[in-house]
Amino acid sequence: MYGQEFSLQSISLAIPKSQITGIMGPSNSGKTTLLRILNRLTDLIPDILIRGQVLLDGVDILMPHYNVNLLRARVGMVFAKPIPLPRSIYENLTFGPRMHGVKDRRILDERVEQSLQAAILWDEVKDRLFESALKLSGGQQQRLCIARTLAMQSEVILLDEPTSGLDPISTAKIEEALRNLKKDYTIILVSNNTKQIARISDRVAFFLMGDLIEYGPPDMLFTNPSDKRTEDYVSGRFG
Ligand SMILES: Nc1ncnc2c1ncn2[C@@H]1O[C@H](COP(=O)(O)OP(=O)(O)OP(=O)(O)O)[C@@H](O)[C@H]1O
Ligand SMILES: [Mg+2]
Repeated sequence: MYGQEFSLQSISLAIPKSQITGIMGPSNSGKTTLLRILNRLTDLIPDILIRGQVLLDGVDILMPHYNVNLLRARVGMVFAKPIPLPRSIYENLTFGPRMHGVKDRRILDERVEQSLQAAILWDEVKDRLFESALKLSGGQQQRLCIARTLAMQSEVILLDEPTSGLDPISTAKIEEALRNLKKDYTIILVSNNTKQIARISDRVAFFLMGDLIEYGPPDMLFTNPSDKRTEDYVSGRFG
């Protein structure tokens, strides 16, 4: 609840490990709010009221004493608009790990290469790691932001419409990266693009005006939805 307004109501969902959970729904359905709760970005919003529990490995991350810095290291977030630090590619990837005490240059170098490889960006930037990240294209910046969560060795990656501003080729690269990453990570992908959700999700949740309408395997939601509103949404009747 923001102020007096409910933006999410009675949501209960179990997010499986090593899978991509797709979250779709029209504007204002509460998708971004849900992601914000999952890594407690909601802490920054005054006047917000959250009730309930968010269990990560059985521990409620909403407990006031839960270590939010550690939480954000474990649960990484990628936004619609990529926001790299105005620093080199290398520094973008090593900033987080350094903050969490990783100082060994060899380990940092290794994390940089591994995370760029996994985000399918290494070949494009390996010769310019010390150039500004701001010189990268939008699609490359977005893959860098994904690589940043990987360099932190996050366990959960939240993505809020990560390809909404990107061309089809960049979008395909990000989808490919996410498909390869899911075996090692728990991925939650919010997208307005139902085709994208259908392409890469293992499970799909449909939100509408703060309610979770339906949650299940993509086959069910896209071909045999149990709720008329899901059917109307996936067939493009609104959204
Ligand atoms: N910081 C905030 N303060 C007050 N109300 C907010 C805030 N952020 C979101 N809301 C409200 O919460 C509701 C859900 O918004 P949210 O951003 O979660 O939707 P969304 O599904 O992500 O929409 P979109 O597809 O447009 O990104 C909306 O009614 C919105 O106006
Ligand atoms: Mg949103």
